[in-house]
Amino acid sequence: MSGNITFTMVKPAAVADGHAAAILAKISAGGFRIKALKMTRLSKEQAERFYEVHKERPFYGSLVKSMSSGPIVAAILEKNNAVESFRAYIGATNPAEAADDTIRKIYGKSIEDNAVHGSDSDENACIESAYFFSQFEQF
Ligand code: RTP
Ligand code: MG
Repeated sequence: MSGNITFTMVKPAAVADGHAAAILAKISAGGFRIKALKMTRLSKEQAERFYEVHKERPFYGSLVKSMSSGPIVAAILEKNNAVESFRAYIGATNPAEAADDTIRKIYGKSIEDNAVHGSDSDENACIESAYFFSQFEQF
């Protein structure tokens, strides 16, 4: 059975461009309930740990640098089949290939600065949510 939470971040470039509130509104319009929310900033070490699965990939250094370059908005979202549903809603990793009206199509600037993160499995949704939010910050 699929889980009902996913974890997202509005990435630094999208926050810097002033899109955080519009992206949160779009997330709510998609039927995702905000269960936890904060603005924070990842240190280089925290970004390295978050994206550790990609550490052998050629873009790892650049990804860590961009993800720690400024504040992000982190959230836990609730909906039936949240992980798969949210990944469909944000669109393909490369905004140029994302479907019309998806968050990455609208707000993404490049394959790296693609506006938002979305968990890729129920297990990672739980791990990522716990990385950012204590139980006292989840509603
Ligand atoms: P995310 O984890 O951020 O939700 O994105 P995703 O599952 O769609 O993509 P993933 O393969 O997990 O990649 C993580 C992030 O790395 C950056 N990336 N850059 N330059 C490149 O070829 C490249 N490929 C991926 C993106 O920021 C992507 O979201
Ligand atoms: Mg991913």
